[in-house]
Amino acid sequence: MTTKNIVRHTGQATLRDREQFCRQKPHTLWFTGLSGSGKSTLSFALERRMLDRGKACYVLDGDNVRHGLNRDLGFSPRDRAENIRRIAEVARLMNDAGLVVMCAFISPFRKDREMARSIIGPEYFTEIYLDAGLDVCEERDPKGLYEKARAGVIPGFTGVSAPYEWPEHPSLTLDTGRMSIGECLESQDELILFTRV
Ligand SMILES: Nc1ncnc2c1ncn2[C@@H]1O[C@H](COP(=O)(O)OP(=O)(O)OP(=O)(O)O)[C@@H](O)[C@H]1O
Ligand SMILES: [Mg+2]
Repeated sequence: MTTKNIVRHTGQATLRDREQFCRQKPHTLWFTGLSGSGKSTLSFALERRMLDRGKACYVLDGDNVRHGLNRDLGFSPRDRAENIRRIAEVARLMNDAGLVVMCAFISPFRKDREMARSIIGPEYFTEIYLDAGLDVCEERDPKGLYEKARAGVIPGFTGVSAPYEWPEHPSLTLDTGRMSIGECLESQDELILFTRV
């Protein structure tokens, strides 16, 4: 698809204007990790904490987005890449609107997370690796997905029958298998500081 005849229209308000309006610096916190590592739990808990501190923020969550925007996508490497591309574009728009965004996606491939970083812009992007270990995640199995994956009902399941490429240089790594939810939230507090104007 070409964008040859499409000309960008510049509005009358700048990002700086929107930052001042929202009284915060927009940012994307990108949570990556195995299913059950705690991406949704921590993203939504952080959203609550940020709202309580007067931050305008929103969670883009893997499961939720696949019910709507990305309902046409499956779990092949190609569809996973398209899933991440669309999410990154949405996060970029939300950042441009002035919001802080938490993205909770397994996002198992390094190249897809790097694509997200480059779409969103490295200065707005912070990668958080939830490193819980497959044994812990499988033991938790909050949605019963590992059981189905082991039984062969779900093909291409990350950690079981599809790879997870751990981040090489995440800004923050949390061992959610050892730390409590409260401890994880406390160690994310400094991330909230990124959003100060
Ligand atoms: N320190 C912790 N941080 C996050 N979750 C934790 C922690 N300790 C225990 N848990 C539990 O682990 C489970 C994590 O499940 P959650 O649905 O958040 O994972 P997820 O990464 O979003 O998985 P999926 O990729 O399938 O959406 C929850 O039941 C949560 O209560
Ligand atoms: Mg989740």
